[in-house]
Amino acid sequence: MEERIAELRRLAEREISAAPSLDALERLRIKLFGRKGGAFTELTKSVATLPVEARPLNGRLLNEAKNSVTNLLETRHRELSRALATGPTAPQIDTTFPGRRPHIGRRHPLTLTMDLLCDVFLRMGFQVRQGPEIETDYHNFEALNMPPDHPARDMQDTFYIADDKVLRTHTSPVQIRTMLAERPPIQMIAPGRVFRRDSDLSHSPVFHQVEGLMADRGIHMGHLKGILQRFVEDVFGTGLALRFRPSFFPFVEPGAEGDMQCVACRGAGCGVCGGSGWVEILGAGMVHPRVFENVGYDPKKITGFAFGIGVERIAMLLHNVGNIRLFYENDMRFLEQF
Ligand code: PHE
Repeated sequence: MEERIAELRRLAEREISAAPSLDALERLRIKLFGRKGGAFTELTKSVATLPVEARPLNGRLLNEAKNSVTNLLETRHRELSRALATGPTAPQIDTTFPGRRPHIGRRHPLTLTMDLLCDVFLRMGFQVRQGPEIETDYHNFEALNMPPDHPARDMQDTFYIADDKVLRTHTSPVQIRTMLAERPPIQMIAPGRVFRRDSDLSHSPVFHQVEGLMADRGIHMGHLKGILQRFVEDVFGTGLALRFRPSFFPFVEPGAEGDMQCVACRGAGCGVCGGSGWVEILGAGMVHPRVFENVGYDPKKITGFAFGIGVERIAMLLHNVGNIRLFYENDMRFLEQF
């Protein structure tokens, strides 16, 4: 019996050291330790049939042999695995193969448009001012010459947070904040988010405006027209006219809405402009004397103009987008086109 154990141990050690592959090693393991017919398994059974006095010695020898062989199996397994990962049969890495491209993010089309508008006005000498999105009734309405019974305050249009707090319905309150904090000359723009209870193909409850204000001695309507005409040229290229239609905003007098010639048909009339050849892009006017009084400026000395441009409208015209909601749905197929 002792001889058989020693013999099996030598044989196992020789074969394990020579095992050429992980597969061969696994077959060997089964041959030695398999539950049915494994050489060590069978030998263990034979030890149990020996006379009682012969069992302890042979049992100890057999255990030593099993432990040693098991260790050797593990060592050989490690060797073969390492050789597989690094040796000549290791999977080849082609270092010239183009890698997988990381997904690069980009700016949102509205951000791009906003940045473009800001650039255009910064180049004309405007400075950026900002204000809060939750506004007081005073800054959003009252100081802008909208008394408490004015229709623009109707619950239909305004999101009220409290009796005297609203989500700003336009960027015009930034005019008020700037004039309260600074003295003329003032030449500012205020880009930002605004909120109204309104939603269809061209209106969203959250949208963006760029407000403009210029206040100093001697500012007149000609300055307003010149600057806005220049803005249309810088954004859309030359050759598109800007026209003013008389309109009413409580904080300007006179007030106007600005239409530009349709980008799609250049004035001929098409689906984008509803056949008229013109699209409305802004509200504007000369700052109302009462607004100047509200911020402590002397309207006999200081005059100024203000305008508010709809950023979504500009982005839709620039990129021929027919539905404003595409800007907010964050569908990658849409966003990746910019
Ligand atoms: N605040 C106005 C609006 O949101 C636009 C505007 C700005 C009109 C400045 C005149 C002057 O409709």
